[in-house]
Amino acid sequence: MVAPAPRYNNRFASTVTANEVSYVTTCHGKWSFLAMRSEIERWNEKYESKALSQTLNPDPLLIQHQVLLTGGGRALDIASGTGDNALFLAQRGYDSYAVDGSVVGLQHCRHKARIRQLRVQCFVADLDRYSFPESVFSVVVLLRYLNRALMPVVRAAVRPGGLLFFKTFNRNFLLSKPSFPSEYVLDHGELSAWFKGWPCLDTNDSPGNPDTSTHWVGHRPDN
Ligand SMILES: C[S@@+](CC[C@H](N)C(=O)[O-])C[C@H]1O[C@@H](n2cnc3c(N)ncnc32)[C@H](O)[C@@H]1O
Repeated sequence: MVAPAPRYNNRFASTVTANEVSYVTTCHGKWSFLAMRSEIERWNEKYESKALSQTLNPDPLLIQHQVLLTGGGRALDIASGTGDNALFLAQRGYDSYAVDGSVVGLQHCRHKARIRQLRVQCFVADLDRYSFPESVFSVVVLLRYLNRALMPVVRAAVRPGGLLFFKTFNRNFLLSKPSFPSEYVLDHGELSAWFKGWPCLDTNDSPGNPDTSTHWVGHRPDN
């Protein structure tokens, strides 16, 4: 089992299991989840208000490209929320990992996994203070979560030849929702710049595109 490694303080690296999800310590021996800000509390409340369900709603981007998802190896869903995408990847035959700050979100994931007899390893962690093992994952999925400081770590987590799926809101989204924090939207060209040199299989990251989210699907070069 590959436990993602903390970025800041390896001395306190450990995982424990409680309520069937693993909490990852990041620094000074405190559960990263306890150190998280109100953002995570907000997500916990949101997921608490949702009834546990057995319905699986993978993102359309993964469904559209499912022919690429041939299984085998490890898949990582970063900021997985209720884990529908991690569950879908488990269904496609991957050894699947879900990481999120919300323990409640991951409990939804565990519930669905039990009912559907799928295996997803769930980790609660603060992604502001977190890292992943390098060159390990055959598939990395990062949907509707933007943390620019994490990008080098995300790139490094994909194994050579492995796939990356990224999608989140872009500047066009602010036109319909001006109250949305502008630091959480992509600039046009940003995804293409981050994955420069990586063969791209599908993107809508082009100037003048009116879509409100930008996606990028491609793979890490073999060497
Ligand atoms: C919009 S949801 C996206 C969930 C999922 N990727 C999807 O597309 O359905 C954003 C997720 O990011 C998580 N998140 C936000 N800030 C985080 C942080 N600092 N550390 C870990 N998770 C965080 C939230 O708990 C939430 O589940």
